[in-house]
Order: sequence, then structure tokens, then C-alpha cells
Amino acid sequence: MLKTKITEMFGINHPIASAAMGPFRTNDLCIAVSEAGGLGMISHTNVSSKGFESNYVDAMKKNLDYVVEHTDGIFGFNVRTSRVEPGMDKLISETSKHIMRNPKLREQCLYALTSAGSARRMPENKDFQKLRENSQIKHFHVAPALWLADKCVAAGCDGLVVNGFEGGGHQAYERVGGVPLLQQIQKKYPDIAKIAAGGFANGTGLALALAAGADGISMGSRFIASIESEFHKNYKEIIPPAKAQDTIVKTGNLSIIRMWRNRYSTAKGLIKSKEEKIAEEQALLKKRAVMSEEELKEEYRKDFIKNYAIYEGDVESGIVPLGQSIGVIESIESVSDIINKCVKDAEISLKKASNYIV
Ligand SMILES: Cc1cc2nc3c(=O)[nH]c(=O)nc-3n(C[C@H](O)[C@H](O)[C@H](O)COP(=O)(O)O)c2cc1C
Repeated sequence: MLKTKITEMFGINHPIASAAMGPFRTNDLCIAVSEAGGLGMISHTNVSSKGFESNYVDAMKKNLDYVVEHTDGIFGFNVRTSRVEPGMDKLISETSKHIMRNPKLREQCLYALTSAGSARRMPENKDFQKLRENSQIKHFHVAPALWLADKCVAAGCDGLVVNGFEGGGHQAYERVGGVPLLQQIQKKYPDIAKIAAGGFANGTGLALALAAGADGISMGSRFIASIESEFHKNYKEIIPPAKAQDTIVKTGNLSIIRMWRNRYSTAKGLIKSKEEKIAEEQALLKKRAVMSEEELKEEYRKDFIKNYAIYEGDVESGIVPLGQSIGVIESIESVSDIINKCVKDAEISLKKASNYIV
């Protein structure tokens, strides 16, 4: 067993979290991680166990209800607080109120993770403040650079997800690797709880993170390649044979993303500026504001499939977010095997390293 600030803070067995992986749905993965003694994560998505939803609030509520019905373990949820996210303040409010109303959710949903935007949006929200006063929920924000960690600390975060550039999915324009980032943040903020993310997939990685001052790790790509995750079979099967160099970072039509090298990500003309992207998003929001519920659901579905063709198994025509950690993932395994092996191997690595001290 490994006892860290994270296991203590959340009352969990293992210092391992599953990563936020919106826009994909990660309910079954969240349940499996929580059941295995880790910290599960419900992603920011408009897909619920019942299919596409017309808004993110309905999806989040359904996902919370589904997860809490299927586990007694501890878990959390992610909200991306970028200013181009549709209805993000409403999502924070409604999610907080939904958790407040259900005593089982209030006991188990203890990890509120914001990312990709301001660290202040959640702590400044009145409904989240009420939830924070009436439960043990902790607010973490993703810090992909030292100056962003400064902002998280100033916002009163309970902890940081220290996200290195090796990681899959949404990345920061700062492009700082996880090892220097963790050292910088550890030096400046030795006491705040830290979950290291990006590039972690096994016990060696967990040992490395703990030795460098993190209190746990969060894994995305490793858990995609698990039996329980609801990612398409073709998505999972990319991972074991892939090499660490098989990902590419592009500033595409969905901000800066690390993804698998395929026809889509290596095509010319994918690059768009941040300004172009924001203008496009705002035009889309305006268009969607006058759509009916059914039209919206269909629009979301089409948009999702266009960008994330992998959702339906097409590995070439859209974004397939994955991190460099794919280079060390050798097989698709059950979540409990992944977690137990990770902890066991980390213990071996940490014990071995301590032998160097004479
Ligand atoms: C498919 C996918 C989707 C992601 N979506 C989000 C997201 O919605 N919010 C977020 O904060 N991070 C997102 N990320 C980043 C992950 O939370 C995490 O930092 C990353 O997966 C860590 O790198 P790894 O894949 O090497 O474990 C995503 C990553 C992946 C692979």
C-alpha cells in the first residue's frame, strides 16, 4: 500500500486517478477505477449512458446518477472552464446543486476538477461554494505551467493536476514537459497536493512521480486501453502496438491537442490560430442558441462524429487523442490489474531506489 496526501485527502486505497477525457464518456471507466480503490473521473461531455444529450448539464446529471448508482467508491467530475465552452457557469451551478441534493453523491463525489480555462470559475460560483461548505469536496485545477500553478494557488485550489506536455488530449500552449514542470511546482509549492499527469502508465512512472514530490498520478491513455473503458475497440487496439513517437501535437480546430498520428492529424491545413478558433466557436454558439432540443442533439452528434470519427471506430478521419505514454502500454488489461500492478511495481521501484542511500 502507498499512503500519500491524495489517499488521505480522499480516503482511497491507491494514489491513482483516471484522467478527464471529454468529450468522451468515461462513466464505466470511472466506476471501475473507484471500485478498484482509485479516484474515478466523470468527463465533461454531452454524451450520457443514454446517448447524446441536448446540453452538458443533462449529460452531467445523468452521468453522476449512473456512476453513484454503480459504485460506493470515491470519484470526481471535470468541467473545462475555457471561455468558449457553452454554458460553463450553468454547468458548475447545476452540477453543484445536483450533488448537494443527493446525500450519496455528496459522500462520494469528492473531486471537482477544472481545466483548460480559469481556476477561479469554480471557487467563485455560489452553488459550488455552498457544496464546498457542506461536503468534503476538493477543488483541483490543471496546471500545465508554473505561472498557471500560481493562478491555481491564488484561486484557493485544494490541489493541482500537474500536466506535462507528454500527455494525451488538450495541452497548454506553454509546451512544458512533465519532469521540469513537476520540479518547478514542487520547489515553489511543496505543501499543496499534486497529481502528476501526462506520460504515466505503469509503476515506474508512479514511483518517479512520488519521488519527485507528487502525491499521485492520473492516467488517460493507459485507462483507454482497459477492458472496462467505454472507448471503441478500435481505439483501444491502437495502443499496445503503438510507439511513444506515434503522437503529434497540433493546434487544430479544437485548440492544442496531442493525438495519434493518422491521416487526419498529419494532413496539411489543420492548423488554425487561437483567434480563428474562438471566432468559429462563438459563431457556433450563436447558431445553437436558437435550436430546438432535438435539433441540438443531432447537431452535437454530427459535430462529435465529424471531429471524433474514432467514436464510431474510424481511426483515420478524425482526432484520436493519445499521449506519449502509449509507448509503454503493452496490452489491454482490466482496471484492477492495471492499478494493482502499478502500485506493486511502484513499491518495488521505490524500495530499490532507497537502497542507493548509504
Ligand atoms: C481522449 C482524451 C480526452 C481528454 N479530454 C480532456 C478533457 O476533457 N479535460 C481535461 O482536463 N483533460 C483532457 N485530457 C487530458 C487528460 O486528462 C490527461 O491529462 C492525459 O490523458 C494524460 O496523459 P496520458 O494520456 O499520457 O495519461 C484528455 C486526454 C485524452 C487522452
